[in-house]
Amino acid sequence: VKRALGPSDRLYPMPSPLVVAGTLESADTLAVAWIGIASATPPSVAMALRGTRHTLEHIRKQGDFTVNVPSTSLAPLVDYCGLVSGRDHDKFAETGLTLAASSAVTSPMIEECPYNMECRVTHEIEIGQYVLVIGEVVETHAEEAILDESGTRVDIEALDPLVYIAGLREYRALGRRVADAFSVGKTVVPKE
Ligand SMILES: Cc1cc2nc3c(=O)[nH]c(=O)nc-3n(C[C@H](O)[C@H](O)[C@H](O)COP(=O)(O)O)c2cc1C
Repeated sequence: VKRALGPSDRLYPMPSPLVVAGTLESADTLAVAWIGIASATPPSVAMALRGTRHTLEHIRKQGDFTVNVPSTSLAPLVDYCGLVSGRDHDKFAETGLTLAASSAVTSPMIEECPYNMECRVTHEIEIGQYVLVIGEVVETHAEEAILDESGTRVDIEALDPLVYIAGLREYRALGRRVADAFSVGKTVVPKE
């Protein structure tokens, strides 16, 4: 039996990267759970930012941003960046998170986050009090320690990405492996 829960912004689970925009000298960052891939060609991300976010001002000024995926050990620092605003805090000085130069965009990356995406803004769409910012991913970086033996793929266990659970307002780690994607479906025998 299903119970209707009404209109909701909850989807389970959500990622919780830190998005950075600005320059090496002056940047801001915030935690963003409402983010996902919007296209493969060209590779693009879409994220929903409340119009009042200070980081959004940097994104608009710079025309680019980075998406920085934290490991679970960074949960306290990610949460801090989601609790205070860059309007009255220097989140990098206060958390000790370090900025590193990107290679294709002006907005810097966070050194301590092992996986990073450099994005150039392509679209902005207003949705109520939110702005859907879409950016083309022009470069990605991974710490060598989180790459598998091929040297080109991220080892998800090593990345140990921070997961956010809406509603519960909890951070979690990934659970167990279930099956091979684009493969296990082939074991399904279509019903007549
Ligand atoms: C786990 C988590 C996820 C969040 N996700 C979003 C989000 O998707 N969009 C958004 O606008 N704010 C989100 N926030 C809130 C911002 O991170 C928060 O308001 C931040 O202080 C804004 O900083 P800024 O004003 O320096 O940009 C989230 C906060 C947390 C803790």
